[in-house]
Amino acid sequence: MSPILGFVVIVASTQLVVALENGLARTPPMGWLSWERFRCNTDCKNDPDNCISDRLFRTMADIVVAEGYAAVGYEYINIDDCWLEKDRSIDGQLVPDRERFPYGMKSLSNYVHSKGLKFGIYEDYGNYTCAGYPGILGFLETDALTFASWDVDFVKLDGCYAHPSEMDQGYPEFGFHLNQTGRPMIYSCSWPVYQIYAGMQPNFSSIIEHCNMWRNFDDIQDSWSSLETIIDYYGNNQDAIVPNAGPGHWNDPDMLIIGNFGLSYEQCKTQMALWAVLAAPLLMSVDLRTIRPEYKAILQNKKIIAVDQDPLGIQGRRIYKHKGIEIWARPITPVYQNYYSYAIAFLNRRTDGTPSDVSVTLKELGLQYPGGYRVEDLYEDVDYGILTPQTKIKVKVNPSGVVILRCDLQLDEIFASSRYTPYTPLNQVFKVRQNSFK
Ligand SMILES: *[C@@H]1O[C@H](CO)[C@@H](O)[C@H](O)[C@H]1NC(C)=O
Ligand SMILES: *[C@@H]1O[C@H](CO)[C@@H](O)[C@H](O)[C@H]1NC(C)=O
Ligand SMILES: *[C@@H]1O[C@H](CO)[C@@H](O)[C@H](O)[C@H]1NC(C)=O
Repeated sequence: MSPILGFVVIVASTQLVVALENGLARTPPMGWLSWERFRCNTDCKNDPDNCISDRLFRTMADIVVAEGYAAVGYEYINIDDCWLEKDRSIDGQLVPDRERFPYGMKSLSNYVHSKGLKFGIYEDYGNYTCAGYPGILGFLETDALTFASWDVDFVKLDGCYAHPSEMDQGYPEFGFHLNQTGRPMIYSCSWPVYQIYAGMQPNFSSIIEHCNMWRNFDDIQDSWSSLETIIDYYGNNQDAIVPNAGPGHWNDPDMLIIGNFGLSYEQCKTQMALWAVLAAPLLMSVDLRTIRPEYKAILQNKKIIAVDQDPLGIQGRRIYKHKGIEIWARPITPVYQNYYSYAIAFLNRRTDGTPSDVSVTLKELGLQYPGGYRVEDLYEDVDYGILTPQTKIKVKVNPSGVVILRCDLQLDEIFASSRYTPYTPLNQVFKVRQNSFK
């Protein structure tokens, strides 16, 4: 199949936004978060290895360092719901579950810091957390001070048991109290998604001003269909969503579920590539004790992480969608005059069981730099060399899989057209790819 491509050129917008300036999250935060994989398992008697407990987080911190995740950028060890006692203390303080967190949160935080990592926690702007533990309503200042006293580095604030109409006031108010503690903490907000559920239109200028990241859409579940609904949401609503991202403030399409039960190998590669194009926070939610090596390799793919962490912080867009083939593009560094480099993801949403060919020139993708681009495949060891905008590239995309390319402006070859590498798609691409997909 060779779709005929009719393209809209992607323009990197540089709009002026007033953003939360706490110095944090200059690139999308990376780390590990318990929820998608470990949920609200509180049964440490019968399931001591998998319950939400001090031990689980220490173990994950150990592995993040020992097995190379920290070395490629994963930094935050984040607790989600179900860490609390059901009641506050008599003087109104949050109390971690006494059996599951017997040493308290300061001790766990110290441990995480001793490994060179950062420590994140979860609460909820409501009377209760989603799982029914005490929320922060009525205790905003107390709880901000508590988190600071535990040396917390990251706070995720959920929105269950709260009135969405009160969030415009409430989320900034808690942000104010976090700021007043003097301890820099990433502030992750669920503010827009609950307002969208309630039929409201979120005020994104305010959200950008007060949060480092925020959820726009549903929780991710362990399935390809869940991942597809997220991909579609971000593509279909990109005009409203994309301009809100930038250094210090990110859209959060939710956790990476790579290495769990629900996605195939191809689908895992798709999530990693798409999240990088979306400039998404990379928060793994997987059992790092048992993850298979091929999934670990996806999570530790340095070239794709570099796209996610690109310093420009421009979120990518879906630039083509036809008959199950999508092309997504993200402007990245290096930049020269008005020309950007790009990460390009070719996604195959088709279910006919054979790879689809996509042929396109760089120019059709909006890559017009006369000096050409150095083009490289980020999963397969394929270097396309230096290509002119007129060169047709051909990629073979597996069903529910992805091909992601990095196209860097060829800056020292300006107009030196005689020095282009000859390029024959058949020899240089398919030969390698056929061998590399078993
Ligand atoms: C939270 O609890 C207070 C006191 O019981 C109540 O007035 C308020 O309506 C509750 N808020 C929500 C969102 O349920
Ligand atoms: C608090 O806010 C001010 C003003 O935006 C900022 O300069 C400062 O870094 C913030 N401090 C913390 C700890 O977030
Ligand atoms: C949205 O938030 C901004 C910044 O806080 C504020 O100036 C503006 O009035 C708000 N817009 C609406 C429609 O409430």
